[in-house]
Amino acid sequence: MKRPAILIVTLLLVVVCLAGLGAALLLHDGLSASATPTKLEAFLARYARQLATPANARSTVNPLQPTEENLHDARLHFADHCAFCHGNDGSGQTMMGGGMYPKPPDLRAPETQSLSDGELFWIIQHGVRFTGMPAFGHMHSDPQDSWKLVLFIRHLPQLTPRERMEMEQYNPKGLDDRKEEQEENDFLDHAAPKTSKKP
Ligand code: HEC
Repeated sequence: MKRPAILIVTLLLVVVCLAGLGAALLLHDGLSASATPTKLEAFLARYARQLATPANARSTVNPLQPTEENLHDARLHFADHCAFCHGNDGSGQTMMGGGMYPKPPDLRAPETQSLSDGELFWIIQHGVRFTGMPAFGHMHSDPQDSWKLVLFIRHLPQLTPRERMEMEQYNPKGLDDRKEEQEENDFLDHAAPKTSKKP
């Protein structure tokens, strides 16, 4: 075989091997969403996400300060819109999160905390394609809502049990919770003395 022909065959073999490796990476576990991405896949996905984030977005500075009021707003917002995937504590240990591919990461861990404020803001506003992370930009009429959430993500590693308990009241309620709440209210209404009744 001539040299150019050997080169072309070698190149073809490399391409076929890479395609096979890529397919094996993506198609493992029959595309089941309960599987966990391999370390290599998670690394490549994170790297690709970083490359795709505009550089100026990464260096944008949070215009807000972590005041008590901003953190309070963000806590309740997170409890309402983010916690059913991420958990009130940001651990990602939720019923929904466990069934996603990739799973929501632990937002308290260094992998997330080492992202810049601008990167966190970008992710919240634009979401992450091919994952369950939605874009909230079109839902937040004021981008300050997303900046407040960035403040809250920074606060997550120091979240107190008291703050967590308050958040629980703002988590979206399912049918069972509503029924239980209704039963409790009915019971209390029944048990309360009738003040309007004259003796
Ligand atoms: C439907 C589920 C879901 C909801 C709701 C959701 N997320 Fe996510 N989120 C994910 C998943 C899955 C990922 C992992 C994406 C990835 O691997 O790149 C993620 C990733 C992130 C990340 C990147 C963390 C990292 O280290 O890569 C941030 C920040 C984040 N979410 C913040 C939020 C905030 C704030 C909200 C609410 C406004 C929210 N998410 C709502 C599922 C969700």
